[in-house]
Amino acid sequence: MGKLAITGGEPLRKTPFPSWPTSTKEEGLALEDVLTSTKWGGQPFPGKHSVAFAKKFAEVHTVKYAQCVNTGTVAIQAALKAVGIRPGDEVIVPAYTWEGTVGPVLLVNAVPVFVDVDPDTYCLDAKLVEKAITPKTRVILPVHLGMRFADMDEILRVARKHSLKVIEDCAHAHGGMWMGKGAGSMGDLGAFSFQSSKLITSGEGGAVVSNNLEYMEKVQSYINAGRASITDKYHHRIIGFNYRLGEFQAAVLGPQLDRLPAQSAIREKNMKHFETRLQSTPGIGLLKPDPRITRLAPYGYVLKYFSDKAKDIPRASFVAALQLEGIPCDGLFYEPVYKSSLFPVDPADFPALSWGREKPLDLRSMYSCPESERAAYHEAVWFPHQNFLGSQEDTDAIADAIHKVLSNIEELRGLDHKAIRNQKLGRADRES
Ligand SMILES: Cc1ncc(COP(=O)(O)O)c(C=O)c1O
Repeated sequence: MGKLAITGGEPLRKTPFPSWPTSTKEEGLALEDVLTSTKWGGQPFPGKHSVAFAKKFAEVHTVKYAQCVNTGTVAIQAALKAVGIRPGDEVIVPAYTWEGTVGPVLLVNAVPVFVDVDPDTYCLDAKLVEKAITPKTRVILPVHLGMRFADMDEILRVARKHSLKVIEDCAHAHGGMWMGKGAGSMGDLGAFSFQSSKLITSGEGGAVVSNNLEYMEKVQSYINAGRASITDKYHHRIIGFNYRLGEFQAAVLGPQLDRLPAQSAIREKNMKHFETRLQSTPGIGLLKPDPRITRLAPYGYVLKYFSDKAKDIPRASFVAALQLEGIPCDGLFYEPVYKSSLFPVDPADFPALSWGREKPLDLRSMYSCPESERAAYHEAVWFPHQNFLGSQEDTDAIADAIHKVLSNIEELRGLDHKAIRNQKLGRADRES
């Protein structure tokens, strides 16, 4: 029997961390209001709660307009339609992200072009974007991943130079700010998710933000079965679908937006403390701070594990040991999308992958993005944001567990355990 919980020792942490999502009586009152109003749907368009939330959400993100939609994936799809993406156009995306960043590109019959991430931030490497531009490129789609922003200064410079549109995937960046500007406000449009793990959630849901009324009108038509937008100044008529957010879901968003600043302050304080506890810990690296991030929006705290400085014990064993110590965390949280089992793309289903090409693009075999692969398969460790919503003692428990595992890392050599086997698999493929 060893010292580590995974080898039979006592777990360091026996009480749970704060759960997520949270709610107060405000959500209850808002739901009651919808229930008795009899206006449950997103039609007549849009509902009272959805409008009120969108207005506040836009203000928080320093942007003129926001529109609720029913998922973050749809938010990206609608944003692509708003900038006039056409079948066959190319969209530059980071390789290391959730499949939901890339799926909408294929859904509008455009072609995703994967670019590697910056090892300092794990976000789209702005320095590599220009090399990926071709005459077919129309959009750059950076993701503000985990707890960092993609380098918007450089991305916007490249976009202007090549007349490209920018859509920010802000699924992880609620309330975040870059140089005093809200997430989603710098590109042509921003897309948010309110899926259940996110910093604000309606179980499922999303929003599109923009400073451009013409784009916002197209978003409103697209998600409302092609009906005229609320203002209809530009009078676009497009084929749309029903991607509206229902009022029950919109109702629980408002109170959470009100709580977000206080929650963000707690997370930020605990994360700063966490960093002081981990600074100069052999085997652990921190993402580079960026002073241009003027308000942190951490979907997760992400750090780096260096197995070569931890006696060559692989990340899967390190993460599994931490989990058994009672610390919720994950290693293979995202895969480079082109390698993920959730990306079984068949060119026969997406004709744009063949148009004007000698042979269909095989998106699964044509890319090799070393930084994305290193982050995905060897280095990144993700801690959910709610781990940092509690007390400093909670945060200390996470740091103590990391130190405990590193101090006893030899116990993991050659160990076989279900948690380790699961950590070698992507999230969709794990045994429960
Ligand atoms: C980076 C990123 N982009 C897009 C999405 C898609 O959001 P949704 O799950 O709401 O469709 C997610 C959500 O999981 C995400 O994490």
